Amino acid sequence: MRPIQWSGGKLRLLDQTALPQQEIYLEISDYREAVHAIKTLQVRGAPAIGIAAGYGIMLGAQSIKTSSMKAFNKELEQILNDFAASRPTAVNLFWTINRMRRALSTAESQEEAVNALEKEARLIHRQQSAAMAKLSRIGSSLIGRECTVLTHCNTGQLATGVEYGTALGVIKAAAEQGKKISVYADETRPLLQGARLTTWELQQLKIPVTLITDGMAGHFISRGKIACVIVGADRIAANGDTANKIGTYSVAVLARENGIPFYVAAPLSSIDVSIDSGARIPIEERGREEVLEFNGRRIAPLKVRVANPAFDITPHRYITAIVTEKGIVRPPYKRNLKSTFQEVR
Ligand code: MRU
Repeated sequence: MRPIQWSGGKLRLLDQTALPQQEIYLEISDYREAVHAIKTLQVRGAPAIGIAAGYGIMLGAQSIKTSSMKAFNKELEQILNDFAASRPTAVNLFWTINRMRRALSTAESQEEAVNALEKEARLIHRQQSAAMAKLSRIGSSLIGRECTVLTHCNTGQLATGVEYGTALGVIKAAAEQGKKISVYADETRPLLQGARLTTWELQQLKIPVTLITDGMAGHFISRGKIACVIVGADRIAANGDTANKIGTYSVAVLARENGIPFYVAAPLSSIDVSIDSGARIPIEERGREEVLEFNGRRIAPLKVRVANPAFDITPHRYITAIVTEKGIVRPPYKRNLKSTFQEVR
């Protein structure tokens, strides 16, 4: 499976809104379609959003028709803003935008700028692929020889756009090492990333999976069915507070209450050291119809008041360890995440 492809000057995306019923690839040659794909979750998951945005920005730069560099830079800035406004929580999007901005800083012509942007977008894709493979291997050491783990949302290849996922990457790597692993997957209301995507990916990997509704997690954890919880992240603040799919916080509290480890797996591109705590992470609020409907069918009175935050914050004190491509980071996160970053620079 290659959910994000770049070939012949076009971006090919596996449309995640159509899965698991249909495997449809979108052929994108206009940057506005890439912005739309991010907004509507046709491409989703923090690292995948970052990679797709890189190619989308490149498509935008290519479409600018002007002979002056000043006008080019102005139009490109607007394109970058369009991407920045597509989804607010996953920091990978902003990480890509910053990298793309830096990549064209020395360009003296539009052609040079477009070439630099394409090179950077491809580099981001390659580097993220290596990062996910590495963190998956590193994280697999946390998984027992025979165990059942619980996960929330979708954190596999679909969410990263590369060969390994984050939390699901760790699970995949553990299975490849011959560990007997099985997974409880939360369905992940309202958009059902767990039910639609995680079960689909795990079936392809031939890893046993049991689908449960979000409200069932406590039941199974309290009955000793789960050895540990492992999830991904959309943005990790400098103190380790973690934004991830709505419902993650509840699972973290359940893990603590029942004395099992709660792990977060994420590349460094998901860590935002410029933000001191989770209180400053912007939480996306999505449309009311996502809650009012289930698979396109209305399930509540139309006039009911609805709230639909797409993410929540798990305070760092609930997190046993954060798995990155640079190693397993343990508390105190403020100090240890900082030194992980310093090693990289
Ligand atoms: O709204 P989504 O589907 O983009 O949310 C995705 C998640 O919350 C994932 O858990 C997160 O991006 C980490 S996946 C690598």
